[in-house]
Amino acid sequence: MIPSEIIKKKRDGEELSTEELKFFIEGYLKGKVADYQVSAWCMAVYFKGMSPREIRDLVEIIGRSGKLLDLSDFDLPKVDKHSTGGVGDKTSITLVPLMASCGFLFPKLAGRGLGYTGGTIDKIESIPGFRTNLCLEDLKLALRRSGAIIAAQTEELAPADKKIYALRDVTATVDSIPLIVSSILGKKLAVGADAWVFDVKVGKGAFMKEMDKARELATFLISISKDLGKRVCAFITDMDQPLGNNVGNTIEVEEAIDTLKGKGPADLTELVLSLGSELSTLANKPLSREELYEKIVKGEALQKLADIIEAQGGDPRVLENYNLMPHAPYSFVIEADKAGFIESVDAEKIGLAVLSLGGGRKRKGKEIDRGVGIRLFKKRGDKVEKGEAIAEILYRSESSLAEALQFLKSAYSIGERCSIEGKLIYEKVL
Ligand code: URA
Repeated sequence: MIPSEIIKKKRDGEELSTEELKFFIEGYLKGKVADYQVSAWCMAVYFKGMSPREIRDLVEIIGRSGKLLDLSDFDLPKVDKHSTGGVGDKTSITLVPLMASCGFLFPKLAGRGLGYTGGTIDKIESIPGFRTNLCLEDLKLALRRSGAIIAAQTEELAPADKKIYALRDVTATVDSIPLIVSSILGKKLAVGADAWVFDVKVGKGAFMKEMDKARELATFLISISKDLGKRVCAFITDMDQPLGNNVGNTIEVEEAIDTLKGKGPADLTELVLSLGSELSTLANKPLSREELYEKIVKGEALQKLADIIEAQGGDPRVLENYNLMPHAPYSFVIEADKAGFIESVDAEKIGLAVLSLGGGRKRKGKEIDRGVGIRLFKKRGDKVEKGEAIAEILYRSESSLAEALQFLKSAYSIGERCSIEGKLIYEKVL
């Protein structure tokens, strides 16, 4: 088979056979298909889509592109969660220890930032020493020690996703339903928990801007997961504005830790408790939101995060001393140019501002700056006075600040009255 013929076939809107998809993706892993060919193919998929059969095949090819993590010797209910990508979304860093503190095994394979959205792996690596690139043996060891892991795709686990993901990040091919579904489910398949919950984001800062697209994505995730024999559910949740108040790698970890201390923002806390309660039900060990919150109040969820950090080589002292994580040296405060109510805080613009500051990648493999970010002091529905601080930019260079300001200035919209009804969880898809 010839890679360019496969690209051409997809470019022309034709369906690729299982063999063609296997040849192309496996060829990429073996170095027989080049980065630029996979980039072109991703763009063809972006425009022409894939049939349900192709998507299902791609999930299997990506999921089985390395080894499968065998969890059969763990005698705990096994759960997993994945978000379709958002801005300020530190849910996994909060939910994983919370569920592990309740006795669930949580093998979380996560990703780096994609486009203008952040990634759990980039964030958690703000913790000094924290290793996300674990071999299978170390993964299992860490799971035994803490009951949970937060790790990246590796050469052993879903390596095809690792490579394709990095390309999509920088080639404007993230927001494609077939590519998102195969990326997420490929990772889930490789680690093989039994109950999965999906957080499908919708809105300005999500890859799905419209509700019907979010429903389509949720439906694909659910139907293929069920085919794979999993107990699953999806929540469609708001990503018009960022989740929580902090956007940027280190400061999002800080916010996740605050949430495990019971001092987190209301929206993040609500989302974590809702996803967790649902996940516990799917795993046949139902816990209410109140029971989950008890684990936070008693400090058990925070202790579990300390265990996870230690098991993955990180420094758990960060839980009490945020200064151990990287921070940008300068800050710039944005003030409201008029009095009124915040009508919207455009999550995509906030994400692009953080990317401009160096918090995400403009090129494949580029080092990111974990210390930069944006703290939002005001969110949708809040009242502001003229000249009041609405956000703070943490930055390292004047040129990046200037670029970020371009996005940030138009991210906030202030109206005369509080007319916008915000909702966090729109619906549940089964
Ligand atoms: N998360 C993933 O792992 N992959 C995507 O494509 C989007 C979100």
